[in-house]
Order: sequence, then C-alpha cells, then structure tokens
Amino acid sequence: MSEFIDNLQWVYNKRPTKNVSTEHYLLNKQALSTTLANNEVLLEQHYISVDPYMRIQQAASSSWEEPHPLNTVQQAGVVAKVLKSNSAEFSIGDWVSAYAGWQQYCVVHHHEIEKLNTELASPTTALGVLGMPGRTAWFGLMEVGKPKPSDTVFVSGAAGAVGSLVVQFAKKAGAKVVAFTGNAQKCQWLKQSLKADVVINYRDFEDYQALDKYLQQQQLSADVYFDNVGGLITDAVMSNLNLRARIIICGQMSQYNGQLDQVSQGPRFLQHMLYQRATIQGILARDYSHRMAEMMTVVAPWLAAGEIIYDETIVEGFAQLPEHLASLFTRKSHGKLMVKVK
Ligand SMILES: NC(=O)c1ccc[n+]([C@@H]2O[C@H](COP(=O)([O-])OP(=O)(O)OC[C@H]3O[C@@H](n4cnc5c(N)ncnc54)[C@H](OP(=O)(O)O)[C@@H]3O)[C@@H](O)[C@H]2O)c1
Repeated sequence: MSEFIDNLQWVYNKRPTKNVSTEHYLLNKQALSTTLANNEVLLEQHYISVDPYMRIQQAASSSWEEPHPLNTVQQAGVVAKVLKSNSAEFSIGDWVSAYAGWQQYCVVHHHEIEKLNTELASPTTALGVLGMPGRTAWFGLMEVGKPKPSDTVFVSGAAGAVGSLVVQFAKKAGAKVVAFTGNAQKCQWLKQSLKADVVINYRDFEDYQALDKYLQQQQLSADVYFDNVGGLITDAVMSNLNLRARIIICGQMSQYNGQLDQVSQGPRFLQHMLYQRATIQGILARDYSHRMAEMMTVVAPWLAAGEIIYDETIVEGFAQLPEHLASLFTRKSHGKLMVKVK
C-alpha cells in the first residue's frame, strides 16, 4: 500500500441558523499517511451515522459540551473495516465501531475502537439497536422511566431510531404503549409491527389544545413519558399525567432547527408536575457508555431470537452526507438512518 491515500472529508465550516444543508460544509481531500505507529490501525468507513444531536452541536450555545468546532471534520459514529493494523488486538478485515466522523478513512489508536461480533448481528446494528440509540432507549426507559406492567408509557418520535426501541422495551416490560408519530404509514408500522397499543398521528391535530382534548376524551394518561420531540406533543401530554409520573427528556427535536439559540422561557406546565408529584429528568447516552455490556446481556438475546424489530433506513452516498443529515428533519426515514459509503 502506498504511504498516502486520498481521504475525502466533510468539514463543518459554517453554523446554520435554521436548516442544515451542504452550504454548511466543505468537501476536503486529505492525503492521509498510512504509516502506523504502535497500536494504531487504519480504518475504511463503510457506514456513517447521521443523528439529530449533530444539529444540537451546531447551535452557537453550549449544550452538554462546547459547540462543534468550525473547520473540523463533522464528528459521527461509524462502522468501519480494518484496512491495516499495527495492533495485536485487530486484524485486517475486522469490523469495528468508532467515533471517526464524516470521512472515508482514518488512523486511530486501538483503544478508540470496538470490535464488532458479526455473528451476533449485522455490523450496522452498532449504529442503532446495539449502539448509541439502543443504549439511550434502554437506560432512559429502564433506569429513569422504571416501567411496570400496570403503567401506560407515552413515547414521542415513536417511529425513530430511539423511539421505536422504547416502544418495544416498554411492551417487553408489560406496559401499555401510546405512540406518537407524524404520518399514516408510520402509524401503521407502529401498530402492526411494533404492537403499540394506541398510535396517535400528532399532525391530525391543529394545536396542542386539540390533542389534549383528544387524550382526555380517550382517557389516555401517562405514568411514563419518553420525550424525543417536545413541542405540541409535550404541551398536550403535560396535562395528562398520572400520579408520580416519570418524564424522560431524551430530545426536543422540534426545536433543533434554529430555536436552541433563542432565550428559553420558563416552562408553563410545572403546575401539573406539582399536582401529580411527577419527576422530570434529562438523560444522555454517553452517561451509560460504560454499561453497554449490561444492556447487551438482555437485548442481544432478544435480537437473536427475533423478538426486537430494529428498522434501519440505509441510504447511499458519501457525497450526500449533509443532505442525509438534513433529511432527519423532513421525517421520511423510520428506525435508524445511516449512510452506506463503501
Ligand atoms: N439524550 C440522548 O443521549 C439522545 C441520544 C439519541 C437521540 N436523542 C434524541 O432523541 C430524539 C430521537 O432521536 P433519533 O435518533 O431516534 O431520531 P430519528 O430516528 O430521526 O427520529 C426522530 C423522530 O422525530 C420526529 N421528528 C423529526 N423532526 C420533527 C419535528 N420538527 N417535529 C416533530 N417531530 C419531529 C420524526 O418522527 P415523525 O415523522 O413521527 O414526526 C422522527 O422519526 C432526538 O431528539 C435526539 O436528539 C437523544
């Protein structure tokens, strides 16, 4: 192998104020040295993740960390193959997961990557059900939501990567599931394939008052609310909580395109928290990274037995990565969206 290879990289170079698009990136060609130091490996990316949190990191204000620096490769989880190895722990051809970003190749230290067991499941699951979204759904629901068989669990963004797993984990816990989504086809999938007990298309409602009224008419109230989206759905759910409800703030996707830098007003629903002695807690996937093995002991056998449906929308095209990121907000995919680049 020659000492240098051409490595295309998407460099994030402009902060979006509303929708993210190709204009916020620059395509760079790097000459990447393939000479490896001790314990380094050269990776060839095959699947690259696009995730809603990337849009949070692009806001000017800090979140759980500083904003994504400009003029650096867009950070992202990837599934890659080892192309060259100077590590005793990795061989050429091994499938690994890494946080290597939107680029075709990279050189990493072997401590930065994780070998994937491809006999257990497709390597793509490392970006979905057996990766960050799965961990978020599992620990968010089980540790914070603590669902019981008598509970009703509400899930917003229920057809997405995280939400679709929350629906199924809640069903496994014996709870009744009320799933919120935004189109008829996703409603059908949630009902027929994921066996959600009640499915609500939030786009059928003009405003939160109409949705609130519907929930009351249907006598639907939440012991656990797993919130991926915020906005109208959350406004309506807050006045339909049961005693000691647990609210899990996983994401607020409806606000990411331009609203995160605005001054936050105080929430106007807190009286309902008082009435129902409810709790509300934000969760972050990375807080549970060290507990992946714990999740795998439960979820991997379910996967092997075909008891969990993990939907993946796999689209082609390294050249279209920014467009694929933007497409998360036009809500066409279900399950985990990832980009096949090799
Ligand atoms: N806390 C953490 O560590 C963590 C980790 C992973 C993800 N998250 C968060 O969890 C949420 C879901 O992530 P994901 O990976 O499952 O995303 P995803 O696969 O893209 O699913 C998100 C769903 O949200 C809905 N949606 C998108 N834009 C919307 C908008 N403007 N208004 C209302 N609904 C919208 C879409 O469903 P419909 O078509 O049904 O509207 C979409 O299917 C995001 O908010 C993300 O930031 C948090």
